Amino acid sequence: MVENLIIFGTLVSSTGLNSLEVVPGYLIIEDGKIIRKGTSREFVKLEAQDAFRGFHIIKLQSDQFLMPGFVDCHTHGPQFPNLGLGLDRPLLEWLEKYTFPLESQFAATEYASNVYSQVVRRLLTNGTTTACYFGSLDLGGTMELVKSAVNLRQRALIGKVSMNMKNQSGYYNDTEREVDDSTKFVEKVLAFDNDLISPVISPRFALSCDNELMKKLAELAAKYNCHIQSHISENVEEVNEVLRQNPGCVNYAEVYDKCAILTNKCIMAHAVHLTDAEIDLLKIREVGIAHCPASNTRLRSGLCPVRKLINHGLRVGLGTDVSGGDSASILDAIRRTMDVSTHLELQHGLHRAINWKEAFYLGTLGGAKALSLDHKIGSLEVGKEFDALVINVFATGGPIDNHPNTLEATSNEYNEGLVQRFLYTGDDRNITQVYVKGHLVKNGWTVV
Ligand code: GUN
Ligand code: FE
Repeated sequence: MVENLIIFGTLVSSTGLNSLEVVPGYLIIEDGKIIRKGTSREFVKLEAQDAFRGFHIIKLQSDQFLMPGFVDCHTHGPQFPNLGLGLDRPLLEWLEKYTFPLESQFAATEYASNVYSQVVRRLLTNGTTTACYFGSLDLGGTMELVKSAVNLRQRALIGKVSMNMKNQSGYYNDTEREVDDSTKFVEKVLAFDNDLISPVISPRFALSCDNELMKKLAELAAKYNCHIQSHISENVEEVNEVLRQNPGCVNYAEVYDKCAILTNKCIMAHAVHLTDAEIDLLKIREVGIAHCPASNTRLRSGLCPVRKLINHGLRVGLGTDVSGGDSASILDAIRRTMDVSTHLELQHGLHRAINWKEAFYLGTLGGAKALSLDHKIGSLEVGKEFDALVINVFATGGPIDNHPNTLEATSNEYNEGLVQRFLYTGDDRNITQVYVKGHLVKNGWTVV
């Protein structure tokens, strides 16, 4: 059983791209769900009436705030040993030289288990309460990622990566084995009957899977009503190769569409070089997008016009895309999103940069929407599950100093300033408590 909680203090949560609420108040959390939200005045009155008996009451200090947990819409569990390494090649060479050889090692269960428990801990430490993972090709190895997320109580979408096209590392399966293992994987994950964990069908990308396999995987996703994830239009060389191999298709998105991959439970990473026709198609199919700015820069893939994708009505969240990305933190992805879109604004005046309030949305509610999980998570709304972070802006030993300040500590300007400073200059040392569905999973420095 989770403890029933009341948290009183500054509550920070997006209601939409342009609306970040920073308000004093309180939440009541029962059985992992937010069942009530009220004002400070109400809290003081009810507390005086002893109305909160039986609840554990947490009163945040004036330099702390509560926010929804971060949502990482796209990362690769078996690439964490390469985090910060091998960033000197463009995508297709990088896959062959560094990534496939590393991922191949995840057929060894013990190795996989050791790495994955560190991966999940690292993400929780960084405040990622929900992650959408690619695992490796190996069924048993990827089950270790599932076990780590279950044991450490992270909310996760997890996929066994599917590949049946030859590569230099011999890192692929034949079609029959691939469909078989993917089916087994989905059934094994569903057998956990754990509402925090779901399977996601994961064709790596159109250069790793032929159309026959992609069609079969799309059927599998439909049969089990599960999410499906892949990569699209990340790098120009990749796009050209996809078009060369699929002469009957006018663009990259059509290759996936012909295989029935594009649905409202599909999350596509990158989307850097899409044409207007592709953006329209993804919008019609209600595909979610994982924007991965760190990886797009590190692998020199390009500057994703994320404002344009949003303006066309696509659901966009953020992804760290480790190890193409060099950081496991969505807080970092928030900054990189602002940087990349600022660079685009500087280059082409048409693209208005994403501001910090919008970037906060993309790292929380936007991600929840992109993963079609916004009925459960992404904001501090009544009825949602309590996935949240306590942020201690001036945490001892942390990166932000508390300089004398003329603002009233309870004013809205002061509180917005706290959020802004955390987004621009904070790190995991400021994330002092992490809750997933009401469970405390990080307390102080420790993942519990
Ligand atoms: N495209 C296909 N596979 C991958 C991968 O592992 N990382 C990235 N960034 N792009 C990909
Ligand atoms: Fe990726």
